[in-house]
Amino acid sequence: MKVVIILPTYNEKDNIERLIPILEQDIFPKIKNHDMSILVADDNSPDGTGTVVKRFMKKWDNIALSSGEKQGLGAALVRGMTYAMKNLNADILFGMDADFFHDPKKIPIFLEKIEQGHDMAIGTRYSNGGSIPANWGLHRKVFSIVGNLLVRTILMRFRIHDWTGGFRAIKKEVFLKERNEMISFKGYTFQVAFLHKAVRDGFRVAEVPFAAHDRTLGRSKIAPLEYITNLLKYVITARFHEVLHSSFLKYAITGLVGYAINAITLEVLFKNGMHPSAAGAIGGELAIIWNFSMNNFWSFKKHRITKPLKFLLKFPQFNLVALGSLVMISAVLGIGTHYYGESSRQILLIFAIIFFVIPYSYTMYNVFIWKRWRVSFLAKLQEKVG
Ligand code: GDD
Ligand code: MN
Repeated sequence: MKVVIILPTYNEKDNIERLIPILEQDIFPKIKNHDMSILVADDNSPDGTGTVVKRFMKKWDNIALSSGEKQGLGAALVRGMTYAMKNLNADILFGMDADFFHDPKKIPIFLEKIEQGHDMAIGTRYSNGGSIPANWGLHRKVFSIVGNLLVRTILMRFRIHDWTGGFRAIKKEVFLKERNEMISFKGYTFQVAFLHKAVRDGFRVAEVPFAAHDRTLGRSKIAPLEYITNLLKYVITARFHEVLHSSFLKYAITGLVGYAINAITLEVLFKNGMHPSAAGAIGGELAIIWNFSMNNFWSFKKHRITKPLKFLLKFPQFNLVALGSLVMISAVLGIGTHYYGESSRQILLIFAIIFFVIPYSYTMYNVFIWKRWRVSFLAKLQEKVG
């Protein structure tokens, strides 16, 4: 595959002077199964980084330079990745800091992860032997560790340990999918936003532990206060948006309205002379029809069943799941009223719904009815059965 190492630079003359020969002479010759090249995404650095790159371009023909105006790290990366894809035919876009924060010796491990079928390989400082620079001051260490923990917790995604880093091998398909959404992230928040969108869209991400090293030449360009503000703004709004558009919220609203349909039907039919058990059952079935349709066309829209025959076949299955809920409610009411008396019936109903019906039915819908969740043991069973 064609791999392009993208080095964003702003005033990194001394670092780039050391890094490019190391990549060309020590790292690339060890990588036999890929076509390696370098793209420097420089923002017309006043220190003359671009001139150094142009000098190297005469020596090695696998080096390119994309110059532009300084808008921030994210903007430089979007420009560089686009250039690598369009002008260099890159299959893998490999982002890396130019200041030796990222250990170039780790590059082959990232590529192995891609060969194994991952869509992205990201460097991690926070798990399995990765580390942050030992010479960082205490406040910088705390800042970095707490920042990443905060991102993981707010986004509720714990499998990935390092959200903010820029040591990443990305298949071009991932970038193509997310590119349009990424244009607005011009600064350092790009890293978190890009990874979050990739994970959201189901791309497979592998982590590669590495020991980060503080730069010895030049200065960091990060503005900590601005960075942390933008970062928090992003993760909080992203999380809020996720909850607001989550299947679970829609499922809950559907269920609440379904409950109202059940209760109102019971009242109306009962007042018109019907026996409560018949009135309740009719109301229950109307609620089931409502729940099934709304969940199919709204809550689980992405996985909706559209073929009429399949829809008709799913409906009895859905009723069967509902029967399970019914059994749970009547068991809780039976046992509960035995201990706490009949006056506790409404509280017991709410208890049954929250602790039994919701976890049970939401799981059943996701696993069996709309099949959003791939349960690994079930998948293995299916493979065995054929
Ligand atoms: N072209 C361009 N334009 N490059 C930039 C810009 C910019 O506006 N800002 C920074 N860079 C380049 C730097 O020249 C360097 O090669 C790399 O991006 C990382 O920038 P540093 O200034 O060294 O950032 P840092 O070491 O403080 O930040 C590290 O931690 C962040 C948070 O974990 C980096 O690893 C970041 O990638 C990471 O997001
Ligand atoms: Mn740095």
